[in-house]
Amino acid sequence: MSGHPVVVVGGGVIGLSIAWRLVRRGQEVVVLERDRVGKAASRVAAGMLAAAAEVGFEEPELYDLCRHSLSEWPAFAEALEQESGLALDYRQFGTLVVADDRDAAEALRRGFRFQQEQGYPVEWLSGSEAIDREPMLSPRIVGAVSVPEDHAVDNRALLRALEQAIRLAGGIIREGVTVTDIRSDGPYPTVHTALHTAEYPTGHSTEDPTMQSTGHPTGQGSEVFVASQVVVAAGAWTSAIAGWPDGTKPALRPVKGQILELRMRPPFQLQHVVRGPRAYLVPRSDGRLIVGATSEEAGFDARMTVGGVYEVMDGAWEIVPGILDQDLLGVDVGFRPASPDHQPLIGYTTNPRIFLATGHYRHGIVLSVITALAAERMLLEGIPDPRVAAFSPGRL
Ligand code: GLY
Repeated sequence: MSGHPVVVVGGGVIGLSIAWRLVRRGQEVVVLERDRVGKAASRVAAGMLAAAAEVGFEEPELYDLCRHSLSEWPAFAEALEQESGLALDYRQFGTLVVADDRDAAEALRRGFRFQQEQGYPVEWLSGSEAIDREPMLSPRIVGAVSVPEDHAVDNRALLRALEQAIRLAGGIIREGVTVTDIRSDGPYPTVHTALHTAEYPTGHSTEDPTMQSTGHPTGQGSEVFVASQVVVAAGAWTSAIAGWPDGTKPALRPVKGQILELRMRPPFQLQHVVRGPRAYLVPRSDGRLIVGATSEEAGFDARMTVGGVYEVMDGAWEIVPGILDQDLLGVDVGFRPASPDHQPLIGYTTNPRIFLATGHYRHGIVLSVITALAAERMLLEGIPDPRVAAFSPGRL
């Protein structure tokens, strides 16, 4: 034992999940978050736990990773609910992936065959069979794939539960602290920080006006943490950290997403996650409905735009026309962390004390579990997890 804590850089779903798995095993952990925990990309997600519905059939390794994570989700969720005392709204109604014209149906068929070949329990439905299962679907739906094992969770409830469970288990969470660099010139890595000043975007966030701060380190109040190991889970902000050995700096870029939050007015109701060619709809048990999302190469532009809302609504009303009459609660903007090959980076860097867990792109919520379990094994037991082997940072 070094006597130093594990320092987790980033208080999003990946950093918090790893921190929780470590702290519940008695490991001293400090989480450093530049803004507020769970306020960036993880908050602006729909919470789809989707292997079949989200991953293309040209990504077989990512598909397997999502499936491994999905299989671990129920036990992870149960333990987290128990230890935090908070409910996650983990919904197991399954997903309907729908096609609203012949082209979309042909593409859906190809994905369906791939999923069948992989042994994933999927079922082909005609348009009318799909509408029998989810009556709010448009009569234009010509075919659908039912994916009973693709579930959903309320990602904001998940973040609250992780934060609570970490604190209850004695973990330390520091907010408003930007990590400027990680140095590895001594026996243990050192994490250098500056206090963060927030600049808040305007617009109608659905929960908390402090989300998506685009501020800067103030350069004041710097602190240095000596770490037994460092976990870098800073999402799209990972590349802003300095100190990587030559040629090893992870190249992450933000891919902006705008999502809408609605309130469903009875008798309008959705039970399943519904995914169409251009939009997805994810119902919550409390009557909210998350509708997403744009995918924009716009850097860290935190603006909510009319074009973004139009694009999401245009894709969504075609598959579920009744959403036009629902209450609009708000629009949120998040930044998916994308690596050059759009696959996550999970594993040690060239330094055996610096672990990367970032680049989860569109899949952070579903993959948080497998990432955290793999990190737990690697950091606490030194045992590599073969399920994440293909995602080692060394591949890039
Ligand atoms: N996973 C949903 C999205 O990235 O929009």
